[in-house]
Amino acid sequence: MEKLKFIHLTDTHMNAPHTENMFSKLNLAEKVKSVFAHIHDSKVSPAFVVITGDLSHEGNVQDYAYIRTIVDEGSALLNVPVYVVLGNHDHRAPFREGFLQEEASEQPYFYSHTIQGVRLIGLNSQIKGHHHGEIDTEQLAWLEETLRTPAENGTIVALHHPLLNINGMPADHLLANREQLGAVLEGTDVIGVVAGHVHTNNVGTYKGICNVAATGTAFGGEAAEDNQFKMVDFCGYNIISVFEEGITVQSVTLPGMQEEFFRFSLEAAAAHNE
Ligand SMILES: [Fe+2]
Ligand SMILES: [Fe+2]
Repeated sequence: MEKLKFIHLTDTHMNAPHTENMFSKLNLAEKVKSVFAHIHDSKVSPAFVVITGDLSHEGNVQDYAYIRTIVDEGSALLNVPVYVVLGNHDHRAPFREGFLQEEASEQPYFYSHTIQGVRLIGLNSQIKGHHHGEIDTEQLAWLEETLRTPAENGTIVALHHPLLNINGMPADHLLANREQLGAVLEGTDVIGVVAGHVHTNNVGTYKGICNVAATGTAFGGEAAEDNQFKMVDFCGYNIISVFEEGITVQSVTLPGMQEEFFRFSLEAAAAHNE
């Protein structure tokens, strides 16, 4: 029997209006509004929404305050909570100040919420100044302790960096300490791990647990010839259903041009990130 449905979207890369960057012309906040409207019109009736990071594109306090208004509008339209985690293009201090409306700090943002018996755990894999991601020892210890008590209908873990290899992408896209996280998750009530970062839909198992990376609402990514990576004007999200026996994932694509708009060399990107 289905316990509930939730929406997984990711990599919104939003900024406040009139910000100038490589994504300005794509109207990325408009894409997120379209996603919320699409969910509403399709009458999916999710129990919650989770956004797995890269909420902003190198956002400042104003960007996060604006992102909060977009998230709140979506939450009000669907009448459900919207949870978020941080990605490598996010920044903890302005997020805390602008989005959470609390004092700026570099404290990792992680939490556990139970919705209709399903526990959603959000983790902070983003590390200041780095492209790669890692779950720190404080969160691993907290997670181990939290998972000692199972939730009624299982647990979903949300983080930005995926645990699964993606064809054509270098290993630094993976969570750097996925072995450590996997060891904590294995044998617990975790039935799904949802991630982003790779801007590509990718589903598989890690340590026997279903792992999902969703495409971005901002753009899609694809490996191209000559070790290049291309970015495509694209927008989509996933509907995830939670059953007694596990989860199912349905990918939804919004209508759009789906045209390539940028291409870069993976080697150059890796060199830049070191
Ligand atoms: Fe991203
Ligand atoms: Fe990312």
